[in-house]
Amino acid sequence: MALTVLGISTSPRQRGNSDLLLRQVLAGAESAGASTEYLSLQGLRIAPCQACNACFKTGVCRVADDFPAVFDKLLAVDRLVLASPVHFMAVSAQAKLLIDRCQCLWARKYILHQPMFPEGARDRRAMLIAVAGSRSTNMFRCLSLTMQSWLDAAAFDYALNLFVNQVDERGAVMQHRAALDEALRLGAELVSGDKPGSEPRTVECFDGGKGSS
Ligand SMILES: Cc1cc2nc3c(=O)[nH]c(=O)nc-3n(C[C@H](O)[C@H](O)[C@H](O)COP(=O)(O)O)c2cc1C
Repeated sequence: MALTVLGISTSPRQRGNSDLLLRQVLAGAESAGASTEYLSLQGLRIAPCQACNACFKTGVCRVADDFPAVFDKLLAVDRLVLASPVHFMAVSAQAKLLIDRCQCLWARKYILHQPMFPEGARDRRAMLIAVAGSRSTNMFRCLSLTMQSWLDAAAFDYALNLFVNQVDERGAVMQHRAALDEALRLGAELVSGDKPGSEPRTVECFDGGKGSS
């Protein structure tokens, strides 16, 4: 059966830069034989974690909104791609809402000591796409640390990063040939590459597209 890949777009902008790169990554994953699903958080109602700690007893979040539908997909897939703009050095607020609600997974692992998959560990891998407007290159670290912590709770190996700076206007990344090519290639790598090591492999496109043809 084909591997399944879930791509989650977390930008507030429709067809924004991170979203466009996500679509490329999913196209690359499909070219490697995977079955892909694109999901945008736009229009979904996901409330902030209330820190009620109900999940410390049950392993389940008790807040009733659109989160459970996304959560079920997160548990089911073989590969995950999170696409986020850099907002004040961090993931988008939309991404953070989703990540924080996965506190129930942290509770399952570290409080309840429940195996995520009782039938045995699965080969699950994840990738972060992060896009920023400025020339700064150190701002991606914050997103990577957040991702690392989230993926540990959600039972994914952190395989890949694609970081692109100096793209600000909506759709500007379509002029960035190198970033688009890397996205396509990394989508295939996420599906059929070697098992990741302890650190993700990071591809940086930091020239604003000027160095690409
Ligand atoms: C609220 C907000 C905060 C931002 N913070 C940063 C930032 O800290 N560093 C940066 O380089 N760009 C920042 N930007 C610019 C975006 O990262 C940039 O426009 C990016 O291309 C947006 O990606 P998107 O089209 O996928 O939404 C910010 C934009 C917004 C709206």
